[in-house]
Amino acid sequence: MNLNSQVVNLSGLPPLIIALRASAELKNNHGLDRFFAPVGPLLEAKRLAADLFGAKETWFLVGGTSCGIQASIMATCSPGDTIILPRNAHVSATAGVIFSGAVPKYIIPESNCDWDIAAGITPSQVKTALEESELDGRKVAAVFITSPTYNGICSNLSEISQLCHSCGIPLIVDEAHGAHFKFHSAMPNTALEQGADIAIQSTHKVLSSLTQSSMIHISRDIIDEERLHKCLHTLQTTSPNWLLLTSLDAARHQLSKNPTNIFNEAMELAAEAKTLINKTPGISVLDPSIFFPNFPIMDPLRITLEAWQLGLSGFETNSILHKSHGIVPELIGTRSITLAFSLGTTRDHVQGLVAGLKHLSDSLLPLQLKREKIFTQILPFGGNFHMDLTPREAFFASKMKLKIEDSVGKICGEVICPFPPGTPVLVPGEIINDRALDYLIQVINQGGIISGAADPTLSTIVVCKT
Ligand SMILES: Cc1ncc(COP(=O)(O)O)c(C=O)c1O
Repeated sequence: MNLNSQVVNLSGLPPLIIALRASAELKNNHGLDRFFAPVGPLLEAKRLAADLFGAKETWFLVGGTSCGIQASIMATCSPGDTIILPRNAHVSATAGVIFSGAVPKYIIPESNCDWDIAAGITPSQVKTALEESELDGRKVAAVFITSPTYNGICSNLSEISQLCHSCGIPLIVDEAHGAHFKFHSAMPNTALEQGADIAIQSTHKVLSSLTQSSMIHISRDIIDEERLHKCLHTLQTTSPNWLLLTSLDAARHQLSKNPTNIFNEAMELAAEAKTLINKTPGISVLDPSIFFPNFPIMDPLRITLEAWQLGLSGFETNSILHKSHGIVPELIGTRSITLAFSLGTTRDHVQGLVAGLKHLSDSLLPLQLKREKIFTQILPFGGNFHMDLTPREAFFASKMKLKIEDSVGKICGEVICPFPPGTPVLVPGEIINDRALDYLIQVINQGGIISGAADPTLSTIVVCKT
């Protein structure tokens, strides 16, 4: 096998790019390295990434952060173990719970009705969940936290990791939206810096790698590396696309050239945009210190804004901005949109955004549309859900389809989540309630997309036969 490990690197280019070029020249059909047991340029690329991101070990992923989340849960939880996680964790965490057979103990995130946005998880919520689990005689095998959230809201991971470690429990952090935190002094501290044992990052979302490519980092000996490696092996393809892997190496290389200043321009542009947007009548930017005092730290490169004073839902705001100014938000919510600034953001983008918002304001403010026009229902995570079967039991149970109006009170047999953000409103095993259904119907009526359900129009719902 020619693994190109002997290629001499005189160019200073990333090892996988050099190997990719050499491979093309040599018409090498054997691949660039072994994906699951690298000995050549992939091993070197992984090592360089681990150094840069401050990890003990890093793996490159071709199945996105989703696959890293599933593997992390499988690597820490065995069937019957308890995992503590936020009820609004990404759907890949639900998949990890199903694969592993873990029993979820949910923490309900704080949420704000005006914005219809959930915040993070506080250390005291984790403490309570750990204490309750102990009282119930449950063995907690992992704590899973999403930080930052899609909207950029960060949890206090330092305190949470201390709590976990005082009980000998690993902390997994879904850091899909925080891969850039290491690269500017004004960014929040990274999950690894705050003591997380596993952090999974969508390099493709906030850095420059190709879609689908992510990284998983581990920091300490508390994680069984071999088990994690086996889980990644089980979940990932045996035919990885080397362009994805090479793009991870290239993204790492780009950052390592200028690790402290590379985000300067994006940071300046985001700060400038926030000031200008806040000056636009009828539109405001989410300030977490006002709406989420327990979560004062936010990704400076995420801007969540609302135009409900103009009578617009997030979906309507998106549709108008997209048609009139070609603006594509990162996330569309019921009452807000969230914009992501990154290495490619330019002043022209900011000017276009501000012009689009001014146009909205100028045309709609005089009409004085009422706020009642938009969503009456908000995220249904208020603790009124009840789990009758574990997600795994429900996933493998016999099922049938019912009309939506007949499904209330039945055990849900599928994951039903608006996408984005990919946060399940109903998880297999939960009792279907009116509030969740009302919310989902409103999402559809507002132009949102439902994923996970066999019938995305939700005329019917798959339930477990009891
Ligand atoms: C919070 C969060 N976690 C995990 C994921 C999954 O990431 P990926 O698309 O890289 O699989 C997403 C995707 O949007 C996300 O928003």
